[in-house]
Amino acid sequence: PQAAPSAADLLAWYDRQRRSLPWRAEPGETADPYRVWLSEVMLQQTTVAAVRPYFERFLTRFPDVSALARAGEDEVMSAWAGLGYYSRARNLHACARLVAEAGAFPDTAEGLRRLPGIGAYTSGAIAAIAFGRQEAAVDGNVERVMTRVAAIETPLPNSRPEIRVLTQSLVPADRPGDFAQAVMDLGATICTPRKPACALCPWMPPCRARALGLQETFPRKVRK
Ligand code: ADE
Repeated sequence: PQAAPSAADLLAWYDRQRRSLPWRAEPGETADPYRVWLSEVMLQQTTVAAVRPYFERFLTRFPDVSALARAGEDEVMSAWAGLGYYSRARNLHACARLVAEAGAFPDTAEGLRRLPGIGAYTSGAIAAIAFGRQEAAVDGNVERVMTRVAAIETPLPNSRPEIRVLTQSLVPADRPGDFAQAVMDLGATICTPRKPACALCPWMPPCRARALGLQETFPRKVRK
């Protein structure tokens, strides 16, 4: 029988491989909730490569949440221009005003989720990365990793509850934010949709899809 996937094995890989990204705290630093929030909203429908320059420019123009809250709608929209999905920019501005008014970001997933533009994924990601809460952040990459590791036969989207329970069960109490970002990086760089690099994967030993030689066939999807 195969061992369960372990957070420790994944985190050891992350510690060797982690990409240095402008919104990531370096080891030993504390994450800035404003930067984490801004990056997660930008990354919702946009790649890391595309987000990077926007993130840097945004921070120069709006160095903290109160600067963003005070900015005019036009200024925010022009800084966002090119990133697409413009409702994200309007929600971002509305969210900044609420947070500036309150004085701080909510520090739980539940509190974050009440803010405009923050859904289940983003609230979990911010709570884990910025506040060290033991929360899961499940996006498409994470769904792929988890359905492969556990060979989940139920097709998406019906498998979402099962994927969430599995992911949550693996989140370690001591490094939830690193765990969230490690799974994201694994999905982006190793556990790719086509031709995953299983030989380099820290979760190859426990991966049930790989053991069956069926890694590319997960996640199963409801036929459209
Ligand atoms: N995609 C969404 N959030 C991310 C993060 N924090 N790091 C890398 N990719 C991501």
